[in-house]
Amino acid sequence: MDKYAVFGNPIKQSKSPAIHTAFAGQCDHRLQYRAVRVEEDDFERATRAFFSEGGRGLNVTVPFKQEAFALADRLSDRARRAGAVNTLSVAEDGAIEGDNTDGVGIVRDMVANLGWMVQGMRVLIIGAGGAVRGVLAPLMRERPKSLLVVNRTAARATQLAEEFSDLGAIEGGGYDLIDERQFDLVINASSAGLSGEAPDLPAGLLTEHSCCYDMVYGNEPTPFMRWAAHHAAWAVADGLGMLVEQAAESFYIWRRVRPETQSVISELRLAME
Ligand code: ATR
Repeated sequence: MDKYAVFGNPIKQSKSPAIHTAFAGQCDHRLQYRAVRVEEDDFERATRAFFSEGGRGLNVTVPFKQEAFALADRLSDRARRAGAVNTLSVAEDGAIEGDNTDGVGIVRDMVANLGWMVQGMRVLIIGAGGAVRGVLAPLMRERPKSLLVVNRTAARATQLAEEFSDLGAIEGGGYDLIDERQFDLVINASSAGLSGEAPDLPAGLLTEHSCCYDMVYGNEPTPFMRWAAHHAAWAVADGLGMLVEQAAESFYIWRRVRPETQSVISELRLAME
């Protein structure tokens, strides 16, 4: 049976085995997919051992995405842009290939699942870490009207905007750049909410048509989602769909079949209630 796994630390809560098992069932593929906790200094050894023992593909999650980027023999353009790899596979010549499906995942969730038309939108992204780096290129491909990245550490956002400036109008800096502007789509990619903090955002940021997306998900609405609902956002979503969509893209890379995602998202959502 073909072997796949996700490597991360921590990994206990990972939904990837359930997602890939559901995809395999749909497509009638026989495969095994496990979640493996890898010690922080053991990623390279564990990865090479996995592939030399016949493993077919790996997902890579926190904190190993940069290490996977460094380890890959070949990189897709989107992985190179992201500076991070979440999907590894082994090519016919034995080379390890690195890709990044996170950015495609969020865009597919917003556009195909939620029906949000990113094209022509004024987009605000909060945060400037690895997650944002992966998302900028696929997002710009949807041709938003403008894109502003704001971050607690302003310099990181400024640098990201500079690095991706060839893709179109991207601005970056501190929260002060929001000023009195309004946005049609606000994406939270800061990890502030993980500690239960609501973001410190101006109340006038949203219009009655604004969509708000939190890359994080949980059993309950995140602080950002609560903020958005409180300020009467038109639509609010968490990152569960992104998780399933990035997995579907990885599955496609490995198996050349694109699984159906809506039913898997619904099942996960039900299981979380
Ligand atoms: P990820 O891979 O999820 O993007 P990361 O690279 O560690 O993780 O980035 C975390 C992001 O959350 C950063 O933008 C970080 O801001 P800084 O660059 O200033 O560190 C942001 N963040 C984390 N805690 C925060 C907080 N309490 N308030 C505001 N932003 C926060």
